[in-house]
Amino acid sequence: MDPTTSDAFGRMQARVAALSPRDAPTRISGLKREIERHNYLYHTLDAPEIRDEDFDLLFAELEALEARFPDLASPDSPTRKVGGTVLEALVSEPHETPMLSLDLHYVDASWDDPDIHPHWIHVFNRTLHENREGFLGDEMPEVVRFVAEPKLDGLAIECLFRDGAFVKARTRGDKVVGEVVTHTVGTVRNLPRRLAGPAPGLVVVRGELVLPKADFGPWNDRRVQRGEAPFDNTRNAAAGVVRQLDARAARDAPLRFYAHSLGAWEGEGEPDSEWAVIQAFEAWGFATTGHEQPCEGVREVIDYVRSYRAGRAGFPFDTDGVVVKIDDRTLQRRMPDKEGRSPRWARAFKFHQRPETTVLRAVEFSVGRTGAVTPVAHLDPVRVHGVTVSRATLHNAAQIERLDLRLGDTVEVVRAGDVIPRVARVVPDSLHAMRPPIVFPTRCPSCGAPLVRDVDASTGEADAVARCPDTLSCPAQIRTTLEHWGSRGALAIDGLGERLVDQLVSTGMVVRPSDLYHLDRDALAALDRMGPRSADNLLAAIEASKNAPLGRVLYALGIRHVGEATARDLARAMGSLDRLMAATLDDLAQVKALRGDAASSVADFFARHDVRQEIERLRKAGVRFPDEIVSVPDRTEGTLAGRTFVLTGTLSAPREVFAARIEAAGGRVADSVSKRTSYLVSGDASGSKLQKALDLGVPVLDEAALRALLEGIE
Ligand code: IVH
Repeated sequence: MDPTTSDAFGRMQARVAALSPRDAPTRISGLKREIERHNYLYHTLDAPEIRDEDFDLLFAELEALEARFPDLASPDSPTRKVGGTVLEALVSEPHETPMLSLDLHYVDASWDDPDIHPHWIHVFNRTLHENREGFLGDEMPEVVRFVAEPKLDGLAIECLFRDGAFVKARTRGDKVVGEVVTHTVGTVRNLPRRLAGPAPGLVVVRGELVLPKADFGPWNDRRVQRGEAPFDNTRNAAAGVVRQLDARAARDAPLRFYAHSLGAWEGEGEPDSEWAVIQAFEAWGFATTGHEQPCEGVREVIDYVRSYRAGRAGFPFDTDGVVVKIDDRTLQRRMPDKEGRSPRWARAFKFHQRPETTVLRAVEFSVGRTGAVTPVAHLDPVRVHGVTVSRATLHNAAQIERLDLRLGDTVEVVRAGDVIPRVARVVPDSLHAMRPPIVFPTRCPSCGAPLVRDVDASTGEADAVARCPDTLSCPAQIRTTLEHWGSRGALAIDGLGERLVDQLVSTGMVVRPSDLYHLDRDALAALDRMGPRSADNLLAAIEASKNAPLGRVLYALGIRHVGEATARDLARAMGSLDRLMAATLDDLAQVKALRGDAASSVADFFARHDVRQEIERLRKAGVRFPDEIVSVPDRTEGTLAGRTFVLTGTLSAPREVFAARIEAAGGRVADSVSKRTSYLVSGDASGSKLQKALDLGVPVLDEAALRALLEGIE
């Protein structure tokens, strides 16, 4: 601190000490207003009026006053923004109105060719037509007015304000119920704590939480320096930060909130157009993208899309398309939502991605859990749609052949479904034929066993995938089997990550899953990056996994063709592990969930001697393989149809009362929490069901949230 600052700091402290309790409220509210204004100038308008040191001084004074007069420290104070709140669990509650998604359309290559009448305009016109025919008749104007805006690639969040003061923030959740994330969203600096100007009694402002492109790299680097895992892209980063229980984790994340739509408005003066909504947001002090634009008719939408395409690279945030909304909110209200999924008054348009080119440097052959050997391309790092890609899957030998891929080739990389990068094509050049071809190994790169290919009995053709047959002793397979065993959808053993598994396998402590249940605490604690506490936590998680429902254990066993959902359905159909192990191929073929090769794959699996031995070992170790609860057929009507509730803890009325109300609305009430549970209603903040719900990522409602949900329906 330079001397002038420290002088000023001393004077401030003296001022705080001398302030009389009578004058404190006025000074505190004055400071709050001033700090809010400077926050807005700095973070939203990018036009600060005072030096950072002076801002810090105002802030320190408010903190000191709130410490001296704790009764005057209100929840809407800007000091709460950099809070240190640590929650025990995220609680979910219903939205005032559902947070829907948008129907998405790809804009094809001919998007602005006037002769072709591009498909997306056709889709768009059809929407308008349907609305006119179905719902609006002549009231729909010939030339419809729209608002077009960038589709932000972030995390959907809503913020609730009462009488102009920020009260809470929620994620989208399952559209009907979202998680309350006030503690982390409250640290976002460009989010107004108090709305500037007149506001209704209640307003819910929806928008996107994003990490500006320029801040993402440096912030990610800082994470890595601190030993934390980097995030793949800005959206995952926003989601990861916001759902942390410890708000301090959010404090240094450069998150920004951009408002884009209304979730609720109770009170006078509700805007009658989307454009007026945007203006209201801006007047209240929210950031908007600044690229929202009213468009008269479809022609102007096309022009907008053209300018968006040219401009998007320069936007400070990631966007992944354009959202077009019918401007008139009175018209909007007369267009019913599509099956509670998406509104009819808005559409999202995305462009097919442009592939990026880079150079193939090497091909690595990685051995997966089932022994499948997958070629992985190592590439010169390249940014593909906001993510740096240096590895991409090549699927199998046939794919390499089809692409005629050679080391040193220039290749086009795309992100399939926006996530997994894939090599799409070789860019032809004159040196291609001279480059070394890629030789697929004949032996397992991990254990040296000769690779095999399954032969299709009916066609006699060899499978495209080469496999290492050495399931039980191949180190690569053991490692991936163990990682899978502990993964989220399987037995969710927190802490059993790649690094630990590596050590367990290389030290010989674990050779098969059942060994996990005999680990020695001291030996564990002595491993790299472990220690007694981590060892205890891991052992507790392993212990808890003994009670995982049958479906998850089946998934964990890693039977070929049996994914998470199939495993669950199989467990339900069979009821118990004993019945499953006694089932014949015919019995299995009757199980609806086992499609294609799955039935014979399950039969083959349980016929194996080594599998039966391992199951016996697991049983002896205390893994229970509990039977699945045989389910009552789901009701298909009612707002809660298809949703399963578990009630726990003390509620203000007997559980049967709530159970009856849930069932009356079409929901189901179950006894134990599983991956299939839609919500846990928790009467108090502890207990094993709550822990389980948290482990499984099941949303947790408190009683008030359940009541609100039911009241919204009844
Ligand atoms: S308006 C029915 N405007 O896209 C929802 N949404 O699939 C109307 N999104 O999670 C929302 N940018 O959070 C709207 N400019 C924008 C948007 C936008 C991104 C998100 C939204 C939602 C998803 C819809």
